[in-house]
Amino acid sequence: MTTVTARTVHLLRRPDGFPTSDLFAFRERELAPPGEGEALVENLYLSVDPYMRQLMDGGWPLDAPLGRGRALGRVVASRAAGLAEGDIVFHTGGWSTHALVEPGTARAVEPAPGVPLAAYLSVLGGTGLTAYAGMRSVLDVRPGESVYVSAAAGAVGGVAGQIARLLGAERVLGSAGSAAKVAHVTERLGFTAAYDYREGGLAGWLAEQAPEGLDATLDGVGGDHLEAAIGAAKEFGRIAWVGAISQYHSAANPPAAPRNLYAVSDRSLHLRGYQVRHHMHLREEAEEWLVPHLVEGRIALDHTVVDGFDSLIDAFLGVLRGDNLGKMLVRLDAAGNEA
Ligand SMILES: NC(=O)c1ccc[n+]([C@@H]2O[C@H](COP(=O)([O-])OP(=O)(O)OC[C@H]3O[C@@H](n4cnc5c(N)ncnc54)[C@H](OP(=O)(O)O)[C@@H]3O)[C@@H](O)[C@H]2O)c1
Repeated sequence: MTTVTARTVHLLRRPDGFPTSDLFAFRERELAPPGEGEALVENLYLSVDPYMRQLMDGGWPLDAPLGRGRALGRVVASRAAGLAEGDIVFHTGGWSTHALVEPGTARAVEPAPGVPLAAYLSVLGGTGLTAYAGMRSVLDVRPGESVYVSAAAGAVGGVAGQIARLLGAERVLGSAGSAAKVAHVTERLGFTAAYDYREGGLAGWLAEQAPEGLDATLDGVGGDHLEAAIGAAKEFGRIAWVGAISQYHSAANPPAAPRNLYAVSDRSLHLRGYQVRHHMHLREEAEEWLVPHLVEGRIALDHTVVDGFDSLIDAFLGVLRGDNLGKMLVRLDAAGNEA
């Protein structure tokens, strides 16, 4: 086999505030044929995620191919035991059309009957696992509870709210950034009620919707959303703090912490941060639990798919802007019309 020309993306400069497309450049690089123990993968789907905004501040090197991104691809040549040509694999090789992987860095994926491949980067991927770990392990949501989820129309939030409903929560409340998203969250994802936070008054809305207080919150927005969740929590309420997307563009001048932090003590709240990487042991359990709900339609598959490697940067900036409903994915030419 000869070398393959892979398309990649480089970061040219670090952002100052909200990132712009001119900070990135598309590049090409030659990949040698797989060496002993390696397999060459042609990517089908790439994930674009908010944590990459944090990588732009330091985790990603400048002017080098951008790794540390989740992808699904097909093995096109292999010298690795356990990875055969034609296998579909999940790996974290990042933003490239092709990747050289090893069995330790790539996992074979065999989609369950009735489950589209792309689901393995969304509800059955890292964001779905984040939602599952949050609802089941960190918050341990119980029947009859009142639950609030921020960024509810997004990848983690949408799945988290649906899991809370399936766990028997009596009220599943969500917030999102437009009237269309509010309708999506209630009509398609089955949240009890949702609110467009851009109207202001989120704290008041939560107090109205859950007059006896919230039992559990999953917050990925931080700032005023976390403050509203603390304000609306009942005594002994639990808050899983998974992210702070409202603050990712202000590294040099972070906004103040929630002004009502003392309520955590005053009402004996349980405020816990978590990272999905500390819950990888739940991956198989989550998949077993989620697949029947997906196949039987109790969990809606919620994706925004953009086509083509050239659309990658716009898709990434789109997640940060809120252009997505559900998980934002980039489908590459090699995926054809695969759902
Ligand atoms: N700790 C972990 O292991 C882990 C794992 C996965 C994700 N996360 C975190 O969870 C959060 C959601 O991630 P995701 O992958 O599910 O992304 P996502 O929700 O699919 O996309 C991000 C959403 O954030 C919302 N947003 C952007 N700026 C905002 C602002 N200033 N205020 C309120 N909402 C804003 C946008 O929706 P609107 O239109 O509604 O504003 C956008 O669609 C992020 O903070 C992410 O870093 C953490």
